[in-house]
Amino acid sequence: MVETIKAKIFRYDPDVDKEPSFKTYEIPYAEGMVVLDALHHVHDKIDGTLAYRWACRAGQCGSCAVIINGKPRIACRTAVEKGKGITLRPLLQFPVVKDLVVDLERGERRIQRMNPYVKRTKKASRPEIVHADEIVPIKEVRECIECWACISACPAVIEAWQEFSGPMFHAKLARLQFDKRNEEDRVREAFIEGIYKCTTCRACVEVCPKEINIPEKAIEKMRAVVAKTGLGPLPGHEEFTSRALKFGRTVDKIGTSLLEMVKTGYAARVKNPKDTVGYFPGCLTDYRLQETGKAIIEILTRNNIEVVIPSEFTCCGSPLLRVGLVEQAKEKLVPKNVRILEELGVKTVVTGCPGCAMTIRNNYPELIERRLGFETMHVAQYLSRNTDLNVKDMKTINVKATLHNPCHLNRGLEAPLDLQNLMTKIPGVNYVEMEEPDRCCGAGGGVRAGERDFSMMIARRKGEFIINSGAKACVTQCPFCYIQIRDILKELGYEQIQVYDLAELMLKSYQG
Ligand code: SF4
Ligand code: SF4
Ligand code: FES
Repeated sequence: MVETIKAKIFRYDPDVDKEPSFKTYEIPYAEGMVVLDALHHVHDKIDGTLAYRWACRAGQCGSCAVIINGKPRIACRTAVEKGKGITLRPLLQFPVVKDLVVDLERGERRIQRMNPYVKRTKKASRPEIVHADEIVPIKEVRECIECWACISACPAVIEAWQEFSGPMFHAKLARLQFDKRNEEDRVREAFIEGIYKCTTCRACVEVCPKEINIPEKAIEKMRAVVAKTGLGPLPGHEEFTSRALKFGRTVDKIGTSLLEMVKTGYAARVKNPKDTVGYFPGCLTDYRLQETGKAIIEILTRNNIEVVIPSEFTCCGSPLLRVGLVEQAKEKLVPKNVRILEELGVKTVVTGCPGCAMTIRNNYPELIERRLGFETMHVAQYLSRNTDLNVKDMKTINVKATLHNPCHLNRGLEAPLDLQNLMTKIPGVNYVEMEEPDRCCGAGGGVRAGERDFSMMIARRKGEFIINSGAKACVTQCPFCYIQIRDILKELGYEQIQVYDLAELMLKSYQG
């Protein structure tokens, strides 16, 4: 018997249909088939009126992007998985012409407005040689094939495209700014096009067929230039960046700091440990979310892991790096932490903050121009990979909980982490999935501090997903997401939904 898959496809002809609908087609499955093959089958064998775009079939023209199972992707390079159905709908942000074909004029006009070519006052007198090393800074961003997938994936664009032109546009601006031949200044344009509205969530990276790291290679590089011109960072960034540089923490202390609690005898040693790790608390956990920090230390020790806690540390530098203050972070913060963490003499440093983990792991080696003497992991990564979680000492806690997957944990570290698997090991957790658990909450990239209203606009959608899930608790594992979600639930009148860091929920179960 021929194996088949089901393709549920968005159908809409605005000239004829009152409203869009989905039709399901049964398609023969073949090893190695891609979504475009499925569309061709429907069009050629079942219904010739189906409208969709394609040209090169080779991942080069960018014309075949559609939303495939909730994520924008190019159809000619997205595999159909055996035994699994596909749901296809048109890209967001554009009016539908018919079925999966959208009218891109709105975006194309925006590109034209930005003069998307190398601009110079004088013509070159002779053919110029562009040396290979001059291409390096723009090599990755030049790869864009204008498929528009990132524009459909970006949470900031989804909320207000008029305020933030989006990843593809900022990649173009960076390509021109860092091209040595270009004379037109693109910095002011990047600023006006909302460069500080990117949350660095990496949703664009996840869907890009060319794997262009736009937040790192375009947004943050451009923010560093914006900061040098004095246009940025924004007034809202000033408080936490100057506090970090002066006092080593981005926030002021509420209550006793975690390090002070540790110094007063908090137990972090275990008999015959199966491993020893260093712990980097980060600003928020040390000064605001001390209970989360205590929970992290305790769940590690309950898993027979010895935890070495530094007697001091400084802000990891992420808040400065994300808004363009690279030199300040490099000089004032990073070397101190490198010294402190290397002096711990451990192989692994864990942290409960995905932003700290990403910064120490991804940015530090480049900033200090050498490898670190330890590996950096988020505590959830560490627990999932290095130990068999001690579930025998956990007691049933009976909670109906949903999960918000933090962007910098899910997409910022080397591989997505199955946080749901870790959470559902806790006995009595009744997991309910919210719509798009990995959609950004709007807190990252300095957006919460610098563009608070915009940040809360993104958060509102997340809050609605949480509320609509019917959960009594929302679990996450990032101090920024934790505070953002707590604030938005309060604003929406749902503060009875309890927000937990996963470590706190685990500890609750250990304590019974
Ligand atoms: S990192 Fe996130 S917010 Fe920034 S451009 Fe990409 S998708 Fe948009
Ligand atoms: S950056 Fe990537 S996802 Fe965005 S338009 Fe270009 S190729 Fe497509
Ligand atoms: S058909 Fe050209 S990128 Fe898919």
